[in-house]
Amino acid sequence: MKYPHLFEPIRLGNTVLRNRIFASATGLSDYSFDGAFSDAAVAYYARKAQGGAAAVAIGECEIDPKGGGKSTGLCVDLSSFGTVAGLWRLANAITAAGAVCSPELQHHGRYGVAALGPSEGEDHGKPCYAMTEEQILATIQKYAASAANCKMAGCGMVTVHGGHGWLPEQFFAEWTNQRTDRWGGSLENRTRFAVAVCDAIHERCGRDFPVEFRISATEFEDGYGVDEGIQYAMALDGHADIIHVSVGLHGSGIGPGFFKSYPNMFEQEGKNVHFAAEIKKHIKQSLVACVGGMSTPEYMEEVVASGQADIVAIARGLICDPDLPNKARSGRENEIRHCVRCLSCFSNLFPSGRILCAMNPETGRELEAEKAPVQQVKKVLVAGGGIAGMEAALTAARQGHYVTLCEKSDHLGGAITCEEAVPFKANLASYIRQQEEALLQEGVRVKLNTEVTPEYIEKGRYDAVIAALGSEAAVPLIPGIEGQNVLPAEEAYRSPDKCGQKVVILGAGLVGTELAIYLHSLGKEPVVLELAPAMRMDGAFMHGSIVRMELEKRRIPVHLRTAAKRIDPDGVSTEDGCFFPADTVVYATGRKPNFEEAAALSAAAPGFAFAGDCTGVKNIMNATRTGWQAGLNIGR
Ligand SMILES: Cc1cc2nc3c(=O)[nH]c(=O)nc-3n(C[C@H](O)[C@H](O)[C@H](O)COP(=O)(O)O)c2cc1C
Ligand code: SF4
Repeated sequence: MKYPHLFEPIRLGNTVLRNRIFASATGLSDYSFDGAFSDAAVAYYARKAQGGAAAVAIGECEIDPKGGGKSTGLCVDLSSFGTVAGLWRLANAITAAGAVCSPELQHHGRYGVAALGPSEGEDHGKPCYAMTEEQILATIQKYAASAANCKMAGCGMVTVHGGHGWLPEQFFAEWTNQRTDRWGGSLENRTRFAVAVCDAIHERCGRDFPVEFRISATEFEDGYGVDEGIQYAMALDGHADIIHVSVGLHGSGIGPGFFKSYPNMFEQEGKNVHFAAEIKKHIKQSLVACVGGMSTPEYMEEVVASGQADIVAIARGLICDPDLPNKARSGRENEIRHCVRCLSCFSNLFPSGRILCAMNPETGRELEAEKAPVQQVKKVLVAGGGIAGMEAALTAARQGHYVTLCEKSDHLGGAITCEEAVPFKANLASYIRQQEEALLQEGVRVKLNTEVTPEYIEKGRYDAVIAALGSEAAVPLIPGIEGQNVLPAEEAYRSPDKCGQKVVILGAGLVGTELAIYLHSLGKEPVVLELAPAMRMDGAFMHGSIVRMELEKRRIPVHLRTAAKRIDPDGVSTEDGCFFPADTVVYATGRKPNFEEAAALSAAAPGFAFAGDCTGVKNIMNATRTGWQAGLNIGR
């Protein structure tokens, strides 16, 4: 066994956990408006159990939604007996796959609909009201009653959300708790609520029913610091079976403390683990779980083996590849699809109500992925070997079709390959290599340097064609764009040494701004000019915010509403009369889809589908999804 500590089972009371990898809570996957789990939600969570996680936490399960403890979003109503049947289906599906179902008991307190918290106050201009003694005691019992519902439904444990600024943390944090009775003031009083919740659950469900308690080790600049977080954890020692150490403050707004909960692509693996390690030094009885940006089994093994934590909780790593634990266990680490921390899963949560992944199109579509076998095996040609084309070819081959993949250039991966050497895109580069390897294994015939024409298709007598011809960089019509000192963004990514010290980047989309960060990390001095009044983050509002923060941190100037008028060998003049000196000018002003070229192939075979950017330039999530869908639909 390569990872003996990571795969060492744990027995907590009557619950056995097969290893130390927990699926951290990821709330909202197709919950219904009446607070129940849909079939898609069951399939989403069960998939993590099938992939080998020991426990699967179910996010956004409210203990008192009718009393206004929920936020305005969708949630599961754990207080309702009616939810138990649905929860049973979910717990059964998770248990059947060998894992433990652990609903996350949630109460939003002052950020809930009723705005009831420890103390009166204000949140973004809205009043919050103080709970009475009776309301506090009743709420504690609601946690216990919800846990009892979970136990009845077959869940092997529960997770109490006492971090990220929610109700138990509101009692703990002095800035949200100014009570002068036994629930406020001293440390003992401020932790009384959290401790009482653990004890009430044990009293109701038995001491052998494990309670995991999630805390924030710190709220950073928004609230309390680590020293206080240690006190919070110490108060819970022995009351909670597992103290799960996250960080950050969510509340009702998205501030800096919010983003700290989700280590981003510019940060190192396991960015937040040291908080758990610090807390563990002070904990004598409970187990300690850590969370935040862990990706590789090697690192997870080190965390457990070195005693920094007893358990590793993973959210995005399992959204991206639910099979991570099984792959690690069976020595197939090189097949793990690593999360690129683009946070598209989060950005898409609000519009879709589902958890989707940029790199794994099956996540959130588990039921679609279980389609019946194809009716007819086909001879398939995929034109274009970018992300969409590779995914289409792989999916079609996995359905049993005979697949040929043709790529015009001498390599697979498409436009994205230019970012291969960018350190914060390392997981993207490894994804391309894995896809190449998988194509080989699935028996796809890959033909490089091969341009597909209608004649080529007709000659090969293909039954179906998937056109995944991608897009080309759009060249802005600015005098001087043909100059020796001007490069497209792709070339600047591929060969940053071609850029001089001072670089003006035209276009503040993700391509341009991430390039600015990359060049800055190499010691260059980039400046970004953007025509529009805001940066163009293409719906990636979470990652977009992180990019903005990174630009600010590095003090990279971004000039909005600034149109380049002319490029000269020494810099860029703008319409408003400014001049930006530059050794090199890079344009990242968008891409245009190769639609005509793709459409020209449509009549050459009985079956035809588009995939990826050739119908409109979007993002990686669109490329993987459309490629997967096109491959899946063939022969049905
Ligand atoms: C899409 C998404 C939904 C999440 N929903 C919840 C939730 O409902 N409750 C919760 O406590 N944490 C939630 N989290 C936070 C994760 O549990 C975890 O703390 C965070 O993502 C950091 O871990 P990671 O780097 O392994 O993703 C969510 C995370 C993501 C990405
Ligand atoms: S969408 Fe991005 S951040 Fe979310 S799990 Fe997938 S790769 Fe990771």
